[in-house]
Amino acid sequence: MTDFTMQKGDDGVAVITWDVPGKSMNVLSMDGAAELNNLIDDALADEAVKGIVITSGKADFAAGMDLNVLAQMKEGGPQAVFDGVMSLHHLLRKIELAGMDRKTQKGGKPIAAALPGTALGIGLELPLATHRIFAANNPKAKIGLPEIMVGIFPGAGGTTRLIRKLGAMAAAPLLLEGKMNDPAKAKAAGVIDEVVEDPLAAAREWVLKATDADLVKPWEQKSWKMPGGSPYTPGGFMTFLGAAAMVHGKTMGVYPAAKALLSAVYEGALVDFDTALRIEARWFTHVLMNPSSGNMIRSLFINKEALEKGANRPEAPDQRVRKVGVLGAGMMGAGIAYVSANAGIEVVLIDSTQEAADRGKSYSTGILDKGISRKKVTEEKKAEVLGRITATTDYAALAGCDLIVEAVFEDPKVKADVTAKAEAVIPADAIFATNTSTLPISDLAKASTRPEQFIGIHFFSPVDKMALVEIIRGQQTGDRAVAKALDFVRQIRKTPIVVNDARFFYANRCIIPYINEGIRMVGEGVNPTLVENAAKLMGMPLGPLQLVDETSIDLGVKIAKATKAAMGDAYADGDVDAVIFRLADAGRMGRKAKAGFYDYDEAGKRGDLWRGIGENWARAEDQPELTEVQHRLMFVQALEAVRALEQGVLTDIREGDVGAILGWGFAPWTGGPFGWLDMLGAERAVELADKLTAEHGDRFAPPALLRDMAAKGESFYGRFGGQKQAA
Ligand code: NAI
Repeated sequence: MTDFTMQKGDDGVAVITWDVPGKSMNVLSMDGAAELNNLIDDALADEAVKGIVITSGKADFAAGMDLNVLAQMKEGGPQAVFDGVMSLHHLLRKIELAGMDRKTQKGGKPIAAALPGTALGIGLELPLATHRIFAANNPKAKIGLPEIMVGIFPGAGGTTRLIRKLGAMAAAPLLLEGKMNDPAKAKAAGVIDEVVEDPLAAAREWVLKATDADLVKPWEQKSWKMPGGSPYTPGGFMTFLGAAAMVHGKTMGVYPAAKALLSAVYEGALVDFDTALRIEARWFTHVLMNPSSGNMIRSLFINKEALEKGANRPEAPDQRVRKVGVLGAGMMGAGIAYVSANAGIEVVLIDSTQEAADRGKSYSTGILDKGISRKKVTEEKKAEVLGRITATTDYAALAGCDLIVEAVFEDPKVKADVTAKAEAVIPADAIFATNTSTLPISDLAKASTRPEQFIGIHFFSPVDKMALVEIIRGQQTGDRAVAKALDFVRQIRKTPIVVNDARFFYANRCIIPYINEGIRMVGEGVNPTLVENAAKLMGMPLGPLQLVDETSIDLGVKIAKATKAAMGDAYADGDVDAVIFRLADAGRMGRKAKAGFYDYDEAGKRGDLWRGIGENWARAEDQPELTEVQHRLMFVQALEAVRALEQGVLTDIREGDVGAILGWGFAPWTGGPFGWLDMLGAERAVELADKLTAEHGDRFAPPALLRDMAAKGESFYGRFGGQKQAA
């Protein structure tokens, strides 16, 4: 079984087809690269071959490098990484030069790429090394270099080629944001050359008539010209400065990959193309060896995929959902109905009035219409998806639903009432899920006559955008309910974590202390700008104060009151409440009220931090160091994650890390709270947490588990690995 095969046609065109056996998408392995290398050698040496086309036997071209291979390469150390990357460079350079005499620039064989669909990462770096790229007119295809999203950057020539092809300013967003485009946009941006109905036929035709001049890339000339100028011309310097400023603005300097990418560009622009490729390989090696890229690859790729494929799914037959009943057509219910119908599931959407049910359904219309205006959705698809949603007040319509997701008001009485009503109608083996965010699942299950079929499926808002779904096992929840929830999440193409029932489950349990720590600092008179920037400089997407504004102050007030009532004397957040209650009294309820910790304009656009903060809470004379603020904000989340693990709420650190990044944006470069603590080392983590405890209170007290690991010199991934732990 081979990944690449070659067929030589009578017309003199050798077609190399990439088709990795047993996979729906092509990914490049080192063995695959060696096969391609041999085929290219063969075709270049064969006089009967006039031109070469590289294409795919699948609906898409390729998803990129097999990231497991990169993880293995990394284990071999920097030299192994550099050698591995350079072997890819040699292959792609061989394709680019195509047997051309480098002095006369003559005698090469034209090579074209024919892309039937998506081409990402090395799946685009390879085409970029050919002489012309033809892509199918397929609006669903994605073309781009998204490496930066897993903490690396295109290191097989993609960076250097794209920069020299498009210029720094045009290439920067594609490289630095990992922006992916459909073929039409990719052509408009100059990334690919042609969008056609039949790329293979067009590429075939092209290689037969291409001349030597078509083969010579601009960078083959001695003094290459970069569009927009090299970074060393006055004009080019400005564009490069712009790109550097953009990186800093977007990443706040915490992502080594973005900085390394810019270094590769800047240094590479000084030298000839082959040297630039070596510089790119060197910076790539540097980034891959940095722990943060390993953490990101582990959490955002390897473990995320393992969880999506059901790593923690109990043994149970296929539980795929055919018909789902969604109770409550408000903000959450409407979103759950949309993602379900969009995944091909029949939906019954129920609310207490027909008007409310219809409003919930119209949310889907809105999303689909937006898709149509962006040419991502067709009218037929819209009709199909909407046709699957029945909006009604009639519980009898729930007959035949094999899953219910309840998203009515956060009130146990209302929830108990709809649970009974639904259970009177649905089949005896149906699973009932609640989307509650604060009420214990085991308590809500008391309203059910079948508690082993009762479970929590907790979505995040906005449902269609947020990738994480938290599945909560109540005390009596059975395995089949967990399998059902996991199969449902897989159908709607989201990422699941499975946790045990406990106050606020996992994600909210960790995010609330982060928000509270920020609020507490306001009460202490810490400069709020320092608080917000410290968080962002650590790689948190939103500062804690912005996050409160987004989720709304009244929700904070409500949760504070409920938590206090539940915890009694053990409640320790009085300082936090003092701040938010005062904010609420001032009518500053957050973004939706256009006033919170920040000011907002009429259109709801966020402006500066509210000046009243300084008037209400006098600025402390001694302001803390930046790192102290950062440690408070990070430890308060990470220690809570450790406690969740220690208490058996989390049973798998992979879920803790993936859930943290996807659920609340825990600084992705760390790979998640456990990845971050491993980077620090347990011993140092305990030392810092002890110091924070002495200065700021017991919420920073290191859990016994962390102390034990520090004493034994262990790490989380060392101790728990990627395996599920016993609860
Ligand atoms: P919402 O207030 O927007 O929607 C609730 C809907 O339920 C309303 O349309 C209401 O008319 C309907 N409803 C109330 N009683 C009903 C009954 N007896 N029968 C049928 N429909 C009824 O609330 P939202 O934000 O959608 O929240 C719903 C649930 O999801 C709550 O349990 C909440 O805690 C949870 N949740 C909310 C999140 C958020 O960010 N808003 C995130 C995750 C969970």
